[in-house]
Amino acid sequence: MAKKNTSPDHVAIIMDGNGRWAQKRGKPRLFGHHAGAKRVREIVEACPTLGVKYLTIFAFSTENWKRTQTEVAGLMRLFRRYIQREARALFEAGVRVRFIGDRVRLEDSLVKMMDDLELLTAGNDAVHLTIAINYGGRDEVARATRRLAYDVAGGKLDPRDVNDETFTRYLDTCYLPDPDLVIRTSGEARISNFLLWQSAYSEYEFIPTLWPDFTAAEFEKVLAKFGDRERRFGAVLT
Ligand code: FPP
Repeated sequence: MAKKNTSPDHVAIIMDGNGRWAQKRGKPRLFGHHAGAKRVREIVEACPTLGVKYLTIFAFSTENWKRTQTEVAGLMRLFRRYIQREARALFEAGVRVRFIGDRVRLEDSLVKMMDDLELLTAGNDAVHLTIAINYGGRDEVARATRRLAYDVAGGKLDPRDVNDETFTRYLDTCYLPDPDLVIRTSGEARISNFLLWQSAYSEYEFIPTLWPDFTAAEFEKVLAKFGDRERRFGAVLT
């Protein structure tokens, strides 16, 4: 008898299609990002009812710096505004917020706001929201390897103890279980450097809807479909 899933504990989302959503309306790309940010609230709020404990969203990749200066600056402003406007509501809803990605290239004022939000919500446990900013899977693995190498060089880690489990502890996501389900909106079927290590056994859903149109109702449908899938993790179920 095939083993069926219940709700996924950890859902990761590649929020794609903001630019096309705006272009379809004859608006600048940033208009789409603003609409996308509003959708984030709806999806986060739906998590407790849908049984999702961990939600990880891809807000800005290590490759996104290649966009125009106007778009990059607009996105950075949007992240600051999002934190400013949403901090209280997130705190009161019991959401614990954490950020992954390399903070070195981010403006100090944004990093300070990210640190403050992490601190403010550190005692929460209803939903664990992880926001990936200046995040790339390969970059994360490289930074984790660098930290691990320092520990080996400093005598804190025996090279014979380096394995899957110890390596995982050096990743930005060391506090997270692996994602059960990765959703990408906008019809593109790529993972674009998102959670490369962590998604080794994740299920994928590529949804044609553009991110600003992705509602909580559609989210619920995607999760129900996940419940019907059989996961084997490389084994044969009897
Ligand atoms: C991809 O769509 C989306 C992004 C690079 C930015 C994601 C940001 C948000 C959803 C809003 C802000 C998020 C938070 C957490 C406040 P795209 O621009 O590549 O779309 P396209 O493929 O249609 O051009």
